[in-house]
Amino acid sequence: MLDTVLVLGSGTMGRGIAQVAATTGLTAILHDASAAQLKGAVAEIEKSVAKLAEKGKLTAEQASGLKSHLVVCESLDAVEWKRVDVVIEAIIENFDAKTELYRQILPRFRPDTILASNTSSISITKLAAATDRPARFIGMHFFNPVPLMALVELIRGLATDDVTCETIEGLARRMGKTPLRCNDMPGFVSNRVLMPMINEAAYALMEGVATEKNIDEIMKLGCNFPMGPLTLADFIGIDVCVNILEVMHRDLGDPKFRPCPLLRKMVDAGRLGRKSGRGFYEYGGKA
Ligand code: 3HC
Repeated sequence: MLDTVLVLGSGTMGRGIAQVAATTGLTAILHDASAAQLKGAVAEIEKSVAKLAEKGKLTAEQASGLKSHLVVCESLDAVEWKRVDVVIEAIIENFDAKTELYRQILPRFRPDTILASNTSSISITKLAAATDRPARFIGMHFFNPVPLMALVELIRGLATDDVTCETIEGLARRMGKTPLRCNDMPGFVSNRVLMPMINEAAYALMEGVATEKNIDEIMKLGCNFPMGPLTLADFIGIDVCVNILEVMHRDLGDPKFRPCPLLRKMVDAGRLGRKSGRGFYEYGGKA
């Protein structure tokens, strides 16, 4: 029975993953080298848990269990490695940064510990090949905001074994999520389908088909999306969208994934979406 999950990286995704693990009865160790980032993560987790409890989406027991189930840790040396069943890596989307971190941590793993990456665009097979356990390496792709989104996309690399798939599927269910499997191809399923829509919305804006607001409202009211594609792009981060499109353009070789020049221009201008205070829309200071 899985008990302890180590989450590496306390950014938006890592803190959400640790929150969900801790409020579903697992011990969640949240690691980040930055003390300031960890402090911010804990404050945000507490706020989110309080809000979910207030709305009845978490029981009082789950909410009060947060304190005893969430452990934060600034140093990899302070982790009790023998307790760790699964490591979920959620650091920046950079192959070298991820594999350098794996190099540091893998010698501390128990032989049966599974390494899962929350990457949204890097090949699971390629990341797995940089470890000593490609059979026990898997993609575990969560969606933002993690506490509210039901899906975990499970990505099977070329060498991932059945036990690893089943174990991580069980873990996702235990965290209250719906795991759905797919194979390792650029963009997996979610981003392969979502990013061309966001890209096309940017082309529609660039070509003057409609205003930002009307593009978003047309897709919201006409297709029942919770957010229009341009609002969603701001939410995800324009730089993240461009990066994912570039990976699919390069690795699938299909021009349909070519990032819209407007998206590139926005990245050059620092209009990265909510996180920079401005993307397609303005957010009144840094969000
Ligand atoms: N914890 C607790 N509560 C939260 C929260 C969090 N992390 N995030 C938002 N909420 C709360 C809001 O504060 C709000 O509370 P209120 O009702 O008291 O004001 C409530 O949830 C609902 O928020 P909204 O009023 O903004 O209304 P919505 O009904 O639109 O819900 C949403 C918000 C769930 C984010 C919804 O808009 C949505 O589903 N949007 C699409 C999100 C999406 O597509 N995510 C996937 C992105 S792609 C990705 O992550 C993959 C990567 O690889 C790119």
